[in-house]
Amino acid sequence: MAEHQKIVILDFGGQYTQLIARRVRECKVYSEVLPYHASLEQIKAVKPLGVILSGGPASVLAEDAPRCDAGVYTLGVPVLGICYGMQLTAHLLGGTVEKAAQREYGRIAVTMDDRESLLASMSPTSSNWMSHTYQVKVCPEGFHPIAHSENCPVAAMADDGRHIYGVQFHPEVTHSDEGRTVIENFLRICGCTGDWTMDAYAQTAIAAIRETVGDKGTVLLALSGGVDSSVAAALIYKAIGDRLTCVYVDHGFMRKGESEQVCRVFSELFPVRFIRADAADRFFADLKDVTDPEKKRKIIGRDFIEVFKAEAEKLGKLDYFAQGTIYPDVIESGQATGAAVIKSHHNVGGLPKELGFTELIEPLRMLFKDEVRALGETLGLPHDLVWRQPFPGPGLAIRVIGAVDPEKVTIVRESDAILREEIAAAGLQESIHQYFTVLTGIRSVGVMGDERTYDYTVAIRAVTTDDFMTADWARIPYDVIRTVSARIVNEVGHVNRVVLDVTTKPPASIEWE
Ligand code: XMP
Repeated sequence: MAEHQKIVILDFGGQYTQLIARRVRECKVYSEVLPYHASLEQIKAVKPLGVILSGGPASVLAEDAPRCDAGVYTLGVPVLGICYGMQLTAHLLGGTVEKAAQREYGRIAVTMDDRESLLASMSPTSSNWMSHTYQVKVCPEGFHPIAHSENCPVAAMADDGRHIYGVQFHPEVTHSDEGRTVIENFLRICGCTGDWTMDAYAQTAIAAIRETVGDKGTVLLALSGGVDSSVAAALIYKAIGDRLTCVYVDHGFMRKGESEQVCRVFSELFPVRFIRADAADRFFADLKDVTDPEKKRKIIGRDFIEVFKAEAEKLGKLDYFAQGTIYPDVIESGQATGAAVIKSHHNVGGLPKELGFTELIEPLRMLFKDEVRALGETLGLPHDLVWRQPFPGPGLAIRVIGAVDPEKVTIVRESDAILREEIAAAGLQESIHQYFTVLTGIRSVGVMGDERTYDYTVAIRAVTTDDFMTADWARIPYDVIRTVSARIVNEVGHVNRVVLDVTTKPPASIEWE
């Protein structure tokens, strides 16, 4: 297989390192993240056309500041330092770094003084994301400042002879108006032409799985029915066929039609060894009268693992355990340094160890959601499965407020199906990032025909968001809401009122539990 052009990103612990990788890949150039202390040999082995040094929380002036091998500057490929990476470049190459008189944080106006090379075709001034306490005071020999802000005289620097650059702002975040141009310019300077596609990723990932698993190895995967585990399953299937066993635990809280679709796809389109455990009765029994959201999540998580374990044990020993972990999972579940656990996410974190697996396969760990979707399409998964909106592991159970029973789950399932149908009919499914209904648990008085009713209130929750960490409520046209509301009260039993959730996250979360 042809080698692709690559960029190495050295990670100094910055919160945006993965975003840099993502932006580079959006420009169709493969990027690989290595730790800052990667040896020169490791870096050379990748044969990068350029190196990017990420941001990071440390001060380059600190005794124990993380440093890369200074040999990266003489590899003969362009280098771009971002924030900490720029300060480190200045420090290692003989410039000076000092504490800024005023810390800059947020969108800051940056004036581009030299709109050539790295800053080619940029506006004279644009808003860019800054977050720094230290800054470059004097550029190293051979460099000159190419941009400044009010409080930062060297907001970017360049040595066009050696092709070494630095930017104090973060071109990788969307808050930087023309950040993408900076990245594109750097890639152009590196000589990258953009030969990276999801098809190429699929080929590489399939080859890597084959190499790891070998000719005879077997893999076990917990299929949740969501996008990530489905894409992981399809990818592994392409690598090793039905030496992949997928266990699908149906807890009874899936959306309408989803379990059926999962079964169809993985028995017909990607015929893995497919095991479906129908465990709804057990989940309902264990959740009876439980109202506390965290308790509900814990019980569902525990039952899921127990059911999965029982199925896995029946299968005998398999060699590898596969997971559809993607990068945002790593952050949301608090595995990333400093990230707080807001809700205990239902996942299979400790399971592989308990089942005696020492080898994990996580072929999507470096990918963002949109990349996973693109990969799914490349592999030939159905469009509507690949574009499924996020769905919490505990499923509809946490969209019934308070105690769960089959009747209540049917109410959310049916009302959710109506909402989805109408959003699709209005052509809004791609502009609203997540939408669902919630059975609020409130009952109120209504009138139907000539009868007084005392029935449930269903809420519509719909949000737009970039990353699901913050969200705005979606402005669904009133006409669409009117249709949804009319259909829900007419078609779903025991509902006589529909309300709309108009709260942002924060302070509310997207789910109600
Ligand atoms: P919240 O409610 O925390 O949700 O604003 C943020 C996003 O995460 C999804 N979510 C989950 N996803 N397991 C998951 O895989 C879970 O337990 C879980 N809980 C919430 C939620 O649907 C939203 O997209």
